[in-house]
Amino acid sequence: MGPTSPIDTALLPMTSEVGPEGGLRVGGIDLVELADRFGTPLFVYDEDHLRARCREAVAAWGEGVAYATKAFLCLAMARLVHEEGMWLDVSTGGELHVALASEVPADRLVLHGNNKSMEEIRAALAVGVGRIVVDSFDELDRLENLLADRSTSTFDSGTGPTVRTNGTRPKVLVRITPGVEVHAHEFVRTGQDDSKFGFGIASGAAEQVLDRLSGLTAEGIVELVGIHAHLGSQVFELEPFERAIGILARFFAPLGLSELVIGGGLGVAYVTGETAPTITEWAMAVRRACRSAGLPDSLRVTAEPGRSIVASSGVTLYRVGTVKRVSERRTYVSVDGGMSDNPRPVLYGSGYEAFLPREIGAERTKPVRVVGKHCESGDVIVADGYVPDDLAVGDVLATPVTGAYGHSMASNYNKVPRPSAVFVTEGRAREVVRRETYADLIRLDT
Ligand code: LLP
Repeated sequence: MGPTSPIDTALLPMTSEVGPEGGLRVGGIDLVELADRFGTPLFVYDEDHLRARCREAVAAWGEGVAYATKAFLCLAMARLVHEEGMWLDVSTGGELHVALASEVPADRLVLHGNNKSMEEIRAALAVGVGRIVVDSFDELDRLENLLADRSTSTFDSGTGPTVRTNGTRPKVLVRITPGVEVHAHEFVRTGQDDSKFGFGIASGAAEQVLDRLSGLTAEGIVELVGIHAHLGSQVFELEPFERAIGILARFFAPLGLSELVIGGGLGVAYVTGETAPTITEWAMAVRRACRSAGLPDSLRVTAEPGRSIVASSGVTLYRVGTVKRVSERRTYVSVDGGMSDNPRPVLYGSGYEAFLPREIGAERTKPVRVVGKHCESGDVIVADGYVPDDLAVGDVLATPVTGAYGHSMASNYNKVPRPSAVFVTEGRAREVVRRETYADLIRLDT
């Protein structure tokens, strides 16, 4: 299979099928029909695919495996993930707010972030989040201050000094930077020593914070339950995870802690020819590494997949507005979205495929560059794509594997309203995020 072959079905959502007229259906609905009904750009999520990935994660990792909400979050997504038995990783007060608004119980939430504010920590303590992942000494100072007078005051999510009366101590994990570098874009590498995240082993910070947290645990202020490491994102090899386990185990073993979280980061295939391990293979490799490092079987070993849950369940639909042939070699196809709904090509040079859902089996013989409607030349969605020869203005063009870090990183650049997102299943489509309107664009202006 080459770049000009029909779109590789391995890149499409699970329920994809060819309709009677040769068009692509997802969740039992024709994609062109969805574009006509909900407008474009449109994020289409295959609900069955989302649920299948969550179930796989729960089966592979067990209790405590958390969906990294930064990959894609809205009320419906938070509920779906919770229904399927996953916890939710939130890394800001905003993500915490959405998760709570979706009525996911607070004790199924894990609070992350490298610069948690006093307000964010206070809010997390007030509702009683399941885990707080401590990332810096400054944050620990804040946490300690907030917990200082736990016997006398009460937490509320307001502004006052706080603390809980019910005597339960917040369960904390500490984020350790193991010094493992992964093959990923430098912007999404986090496990190396030179990182803004966590406590480095090499610098001695990890040892120091563990001492301090052990003391706070002994005093009954917090309960240190485990350690956490996240190596980076879009990682295709399992070896760095295994190596990190080896490093962390040496640290971990003497502490007698009960939890080890290996973060997220499992890569997914975006374009023809890429392959990635499954969530199950990832979990098995990590467990094997734990066993060979001598860690007890009773240890709760979990992870925080984001991309591998949502990426390939999502397809973005655009409408082709102009087709401009500027030279022998270059044809620009402009669509009605762009870097505002998918900034990943601009940010990381990420590659995507393009295809026409109306003729899913067609050879894609025409080389094109798919660009957006923003006022800069970097606004590229597919730098070197191929589409069927008969592509025309007005066609619906799709980019697969756009379920992760597209909608969640979307912006209003050029005052382009953010697209809506729909979940499709069994012939039904429900809008889970509505399209922004021009009125929304001035809602915050005074
Ligand atoms: N856990 C922690 C602590 C994280 O920082 C992340 C992602 C995850 C889990 C989930 O990682 P995943 O399984 O999704 O790779 N915007 C970038 C990705 C940034 C990832 C940040 N942290 C992109 O579009 O590639």
